[in-house]
Amino acid sequence: MRLLILFSLIVLASAIVHESRILWRPSKRMEMLRSGEWATYKKYLDRHRKMSPWQLQSLPQNVNDFADFEYLGNITIGTPDQSFIVVLDTGSANLWIPGPSCKANCDSKHKFDSSKSSTFVKNGQSWTIQYGSGAAAGVLGQDTVKIGATGESQLSIPKTTFGIANQISPDFKSDATDGIFGLAFTTLAVDGVVPPLINAIKQGILDQPLFSVFLEHRGTQTNVGGGVFTYGAVDTTNCGPVIGYQPLSSATYFQFKANRFRLGKYLNAKVVDVISDTGTSFLGGPSVVIDEMAKQAGATYDILGEAYIIDCDATPGPLGVTIGGHDYQIQHYNYIADVGDGTCVLTLFPMDFGGFGPTWILGDPFIRQYCNIYDLGNLRMGFAPSLQPEPKTSLKLGT
Ligand SMILES: *[C@@H]1O[C@H](CO)[C@@H](O)[C@H](O)[C@H]1NC(C)=O
Repeated sequence: MRLLILFSLIVLASAIVHESRILWRPSKRMEMLRSGEWATYKKYLDRHRKMSPWQLQSLPQNVNDFADFEYLGNITIGTPDQSFIVVLDTGSANLWIPGPSCKANCDSKHKFDSSKSSTFVKNGQSWTIQYGSGAAAGVLGQDTVKIGATGESQLSIPKTTFGIANQISPDFKSDATDGIFGLAFTTLAVDGVVPPLINAIKQGILDQPLFSVFLEHRGTQTNVGGGVFTYGAVDTTNCGPVIGYQPLSSATYFQFKANRFRLGKYLNAKVVDVISDTGTSFLGGPSVVIDEMAKQAGATYDILGEAYIIDCDATPGPLGVTIGGHDYQIQHYNYIADVGDGTCVLTLFPMDFGGFGPTWILGDPFIRQYCNIYDLGNLRMGFAPSLQPEPKTSLKLGT
């Protein structure tokens, strides 16, 4: 099993993902940062809401958890519905699924057949995306995309442009996902394609221009219910009251400032940019900081496995992050993962940028501890306690 799945479009120069080749276009991003397009959307939305409130929607979408490494949801594309399983990824901004001409690595995948959809509109422009793990390429097309499984309540987004892959890299071959559903901003999207959720907001379909994510820890269980993405509303079923909101420092990724990274006696107080990324299974940070934290936790780096190994019975203190003056504490059961055979790893990985982009990726371990609210309309992130009860640490009972 791959230990780390990283679907964000990030430059990485670390050992654990050394095989990754990355898309990086700083000039375009810098240029488009805070372009102000959201203010325009918001005005449009406010107008639209007054006109047709009965059309506005919110939708809770259940996701399945694959051993706490990956969370997948169902969507459909076309008329009638063709079903796909996708990674709901806040670390990228394009939707793609495989098409019939995808042969290598596509055996187990659902493929979109545009000739069977009455609402399909041909586009034909080609695209290529490289993630921290894997790559895909194909052509663009346009159709109705629905979030949620066929036969359940769905959020329908007409006229959505997406990628139909004719090639996917071997990284995707054994992955349970068919494709990727990018949830970040248009400025991060390859070829500037408007991402589905942003398309929904622009069309005034969502009740509020935001979504919330609740992810569960299910240990080594695979393909079991493991969380909810709620589009258009704050999830008050699975999440407690919002602790704090933090403005985005960049609306490309969901990027914001954080400081005071702590574990045990170690403290790093620097103010840095971080991103909240559902598509990355671990927490990524500067290698010197990650090394110190691993030492504090009592873990040792295994060169062969490219991971920090830790005793499955260990209960080190919380990993703390301060965001906007609020302290967020990730408990050990959310940052230690059982990878089978009695082996446990820290879900931390070293990544060192050459001065660009976020310093930390707050991936799934953080989002399991705190529901994350991606408030596109107000360009801010909110954090609320997850209401999933603390797991019973059976390993510790009786010791
Ligand atoms: C998605 O659909 C598949 C196949 O129909 C099903 O097994 C799975 O449980 C669904 N996932 C969710 C989160 O509902």
